[in-house]
Amino acid sequence: MTATAPAPLGAPAGHSAPRHPEAKTRTSAGGTSAAGEVPRPVTRPARPHFSSGPCAKRPGYALCALPTDSLGRSHRSKIGKARLRAAIDQTRRLLRVPDDYRIGIVPASDTGAYEMAMWTLLGARPVTALAWESFGEGWVTDAVKQLRLDPVVLRADYGELPDLGAVDFAHDVLFTWNGTTSGVRVPDGDWIPDDRQGLTLCDATSAAFAQPLPFAKLDVVTFSWQKVLGGEGAHGVLILSPRAVARLESHTPPWPLPKIFRLVKGGKLIEGIFAGETINTPSMLCVEDYLDALAWAESVGGLEALCARADANFAALDRWVASTPWVSHLARMPETRSNTSVCLVVDGPPELPKTMAALLEAEGVAFDIGAYRDAPPGLRIWCGATVETADIVALTPWLDWAFHAAQEA
Ligand SMILES: Cc1ncc(COP(=O)(O)O)c(C=O)c1O
Repeated sequence: MTATAPAPLGAPAGHSAPRHPEAKTRTSAGGTSAAGEVPRPVTRPARPHFSSGPCAKRPGYALCALPTDSLGRSHRSKIGKARLRAAIDQTRRLLRVPDDYRIGIVPASDTGAYEMAMWTLLGARPVTALAWESFGEGWVTDAVKQLRLDPVVLRADYGELPDLGAVDFAHDVLFTWNGTTSGVRVPDGDWIPDDRQGLTLCDATSAAFAQPLPFAKLDVVTFSWQKVLGGEGAHGVLILSPRAVARLESHTPPWPLPKIFRLVKGGKLIEGIFAGETINTPSMLCVEDYLDALAWAESVGGLEALCARADANFAALDRWVASTPWVSHLARMPETRSNTSVCLVVDGPPELPKTMAALLEAEGVAFDIGAYRDAPPGLRIWCGATVETADIVALTPWLDWAFHAAQEA
């Protein structure tokens, strides 16, 4: 197997947005209709929160409704441990994590959880790293420059997936389930064999609670509360398969491990971490906020309902994309299109989407919908479960308005 050239992903800022072969033809090149021809819509999204992280709070959220009895107390008090344990147990129930998988709450959001897995598990086998957008590329940087592993790197440009059939599962495999900055996700886990020798380390932060995760195919799953459930940053969730635990107990990494990465003591997993005894002090306010989000998730119907909400949001946006000549999906293959971080390419000069995003923010219609800083110019509209479909529907005429208004700006 050969590694692809280590070229940076994506077009540098200032280049025209990529056009896909099926991209629609613009109606009136350069001179699309003047701003005056697209009236300012009347209806605004009730909640203009379309950021891809931190994401919209759940509908009906009220900070003052959070319980406060665990605040100002030790996180190792009876109540502190019970709240942390409840967060773990409810995560297991909602995500249908198998009973023999461990779930831990760890420091430093998704990055902390994923790097903890890399630092503690890698080094025992060759590594293959998949990267098709900025966050996957970040894990490659960790593997190459920090851990000094010599991974096989399978890359694809923004909008594409690498060749999943080329992965050698005798290796440990690093990948991101849903590439938040390109809006490209793996369609399923069928490309991962059940009888793999290596471990699969899956960054699922913008997929968990919106896309089904086949745990039998995944040895490590990480996510942050700030994404699909609209929780807060600060803590990550680290989910480990029995095979990952066996690796932790049998392999001592050759590099130093800071205290906040240590999961093993005397060759044995520190089980307390997976029962709510966090390594260091968590924010109990963030824990209460997460418990609130989990309770909301159960109340709307659990995992299927959350996935259906994201699918409905994506479908509403996709209908508009299909009927709008100047916009297309960055994700080329329909089956790889994210139902959370939906990335769109806009015809016209590269600065146009930024101007659109600024106009919409000034109108109070849409916050934080510009493409990620390292991604090709475009729009990124979060469609995760906490967003209401009516708000996506209300947003679309505003996108039309902004496209025309931005050309006048
Ligand atoms: C795929 C992916 N991985 C990692 C991160 C980093 O997450 P955090 O800031 O929660 O550590 C993000 C954040 O957007 C992400 O989308």
